Amino acid sequence: MDDLYGRVVTYLRVSVTDRCNLRCRYCMPVDGVRFKDARDLLSWEELLRVVRAAASLGVRRVRITGGEPTTRPGLVDFVRAVAGTPGVQDVAMTTNGMLLADLAAPLRDAGLRRVNVSLDSLRPEKFRELTHFGDWDAVWSGVEAALAAGLHPVKLNCVALRGENEAELPDFVELTRERPLHVRFIELMPLGSSHAWTRERLYPAAEMRARIAERFALEPDTLEGGGPARTYRVPGFAGTVGFITAMTENFCHNCNRVRLTADGELQPCLGSLLAMDLRGPLRAGCTDDELRHLVARGIRAKPERHLMEEYLQETAGRLMWTIGG
Ligand code: GTP
Ligand code: 5AD
Ligand code: SF4
Repeated sequence: MDDLYGRVVTYLRVSVTDRCNLRCRYCMPVDGVRFKDARDLLSWEELLRVVRAAASLGVRRVRITGGEPTTRPGLVDFVRAVAGTPGVQDVAMTTNGMLLADLAAPLRDAGLRRVNVSLDSLRPEKFRELTHFGDWDAVWSGVEAALAAGLHPVKLNCVALRGENEAELPDFVELTRERPLHVRFIELMPLGSSHAWTRERLYPAAEMRARIAERFALEPDTLEGGGPARTYRVPGFAGTVGFITAMTENFCHNCNRVRLTADGELQPCLGSLLAMDLRGPLRAGCTDDELRHLVARGIRAKPERHLMEEYLQETAGRLMWTIGG
């Protein structure tokens, strides 16, 4: 359905848990995170009701996120149910890949089409430093398993971090030479627990492109997906290279998505504090029709653009692990 600014909402991102088995430095602190109480999270059946309502309003793509979605038991059956929902044409997942090696094939069998794996360094030690508990080999086995299982496309999400991984950007591009891996470089957004950390490390897309241009010439291309990435390819390479530029090259005019948090808030924009509680109505016994109206109201509440720049100045904002991106 259309929002108030003529954008068509066809994409629902569903966070199925706020828990995560990693602690990426730009996201969660190592200690002291208060996760939501299990009973406050929507059950799989409740999540599914919202997916059905959204699909009846024109949502065609569903992306499963977290926290880390693979840490919640029952994910495979949920994917099967989402894939079987009338109207849903594309089921995707964003994961840190730590548990993907064993799950890629069952998820694919259940109807998952494609996967985006977060990977901010190609150097195991640096990766561990950036994620605290990250095991590079485990993630890479997950990427291999995703390719072997026929998940397609397999995208790698690399958040570019000044002073941390910017020298590796061309090495990520090199990965796309032989294999159908699709790397996306993401500008760091102020959605973690420390905005000071973020402010110093934001690496603008213009600088990313300049660094890559030292080794590779990129040409515009396209790639299956519904998100904000702008896609390029080194001519002749098997995979593509994308840029997600929320901070320096705004893309809100093309936005097509709303988000559902694991505890049942419908959030019309990643960079706004707007939220609509669906858990209350769900647990008060609302009908499918009432739920549909609430989701439609959430879609109409989408703001014209996000407030990321404002978040950088202040402390109040979203926390990534509760939304899943
Ligand atoms: P596809 O294009 O369908 O593969 O998905 P995607 O790139 O939208 O999903 P993914 O979870 O891989 O997100 C990649 C990055 O884009 C993450 O850092 C997200 O937070 C960011 N992102 C996704 N959607 C939005 C959005 O609407 N606004 C902003 N500012 N960032 C977004
Ligand atoms: N800014 C940009 N991207 C982020 N991600 C997590 N936190 C941030 C942030 N503050 C990325 C993750 C994952 C995706 C869901 O969002 O690395 O790939
Ligand atoms: Fe976990 Fe994703 Fe946050 Fe990293 S960015 S700590 S993988 S929720």
